[in-house]
Amino acid sequence: MKGYRRALLDGMLFLLMIMLFVPVVHAAGSPPLRFGFYTRSCPGAESIVRRTVRRAVSHNPGIGAGLIRLHFHDCFVRGCDGSVLLKSLPGGPKAERDHPANNPGLRGFNVISKAKRRIERTCPNTVSCADILAFAARDSSQILGRINYPIPAGRRDGNVSSFNEVTQNLPSPRLSADQLIQNFARKGLSADEMVTLSGAHSIGRARCSSFSDRLYNFNGTQAQDPTLDRNYAASLRATCPVNGGSDPTVAMDPATPNRLDNRYYAELRAGRGLLTTDQTLAESPATRGYVDVNARSYGVAWAGKFGRAMVKMGSIDVLTGNQGEIRRSCSLVN
Ligand code: HEM
Ligand SMILES: *[C@@H]1O[C@H](CO)[C@@H](O)[C@H](O)[C@H]1NC(C)=O
Ligand SMILES: *[C@@H]1O[C@H](CO)[C@@H](O)[C@H](O)[C@H]1NC(C)=O
Repeated sequence: MKGYRRALLDGMLFLLMIMLFVPVVHAAGSPPLRFGFYTRSCPGAESIVRRTVRRAVSHNPGIGAGLIRLHFHDCFVRGCDGSVLLKSLPGGPKAERDHPANNPGLRGFNVISKAKRRIERTCPNTVSCADILAFAARDSSQILGRINYPIPAGRRDGNVSSFNEVTQNLPSPRLSADQLIQNFARKGLSADEMVTLSGAHSIGRARCSSFSDRLYNFNGTQAQDPTLDRNYAASLRATCPVNGGSDPTVAMDPATPNRLDNRYYAELRAGRGLLTTDQTLAESPATRGYVDVNARSYGVAWAGKFGRAMVKMGSIDVLTGNQGEIRRSCSLVN
């Protein structure tokens, strides 16, 4: 009996050791992201970013939308490694920034460089541009949606930014629901998370060229996309000329363009999704259920889901530990 107890105790001790040891062994490879990563090395980092973002967004709320989108475009191409911030070098190959999915359209670059410069003054070579961008997207969600999620940090910056990888990785606004699901699945995100993150289209703007096919040349027999509400279509046509030389922008959610919330899903159900990829979420059987749940859920419940999905998106293929570098300037490799 005694021997049996002893064996049981030893077994339990052994299990405990494994449980304690496994994360340590894992950490020896490339450590996971951590909350409060800069608590010791740069305690002011997160608050410097927050102040910089607050100031910029109070002048122009659209910058908050821009920062959230910038983080998404960073994470989907080579992971969240700040590659979207790198400028093409003269004479060299084009960087992500110059891809039509990013240029023109992406905004918020100046806010990131400003925060970086302020941080470099107090703690040089310590805080990555990829982390600053993740903090800035979180702060924008807080300001525009009162969505307050802690975001783990410790991302390192990459040194490659490739035009072609944008084409391969970012979803185009004309994908079907099934294609969107596949695109996000390749990044480890579920269909539910894809629908939840699409709620970011409750803020910001889009250029007419991103959706004008829905107004004028939908297909051979119908000029207008039949899933688009008629009144909404008429107001969009008023802003977006048929063959306009210029490319104006419209608010993605005309009712509350600066409020990040789940109203977006109710709009989709009313045929007022702006992009094909927005409207299809409410039309396709593969995603309609998630749209319904998000439309009906309390704002705070959706906000919680959005925060968790942002944290997950923010951990896609990150560089940590000794990988990559801490860039001195966010638009240039060291
Ligand atoms: C589901 C696939 C997605 C597609 C196809 C898509 C596509 C687009 C397009 C075409 C625009 C307008 C760009 C322009 O015309 O200049 C846009 C804007 C925007 N997107 Fe997405 N997007 C997707 C998912 C996301 C996600 C996951 C986020 C963030 C979590 C996001 C955040 C935004 C924001 C905030 C804007 C407005 C940006 C601004 O006003 O500067 N999008 N998106
Ligand atoms: C055009 O779209 C309508 C509505 O979705 C559809 O019924 C019709 O078959 C389409 N026509 C062509 C030529 O694709
Ligand atoms: C990019 O970074 C890797 C390490 O992450 C390094 O081995 C490589 O030399 C760097 N390339 C350039 C062009 O700086």
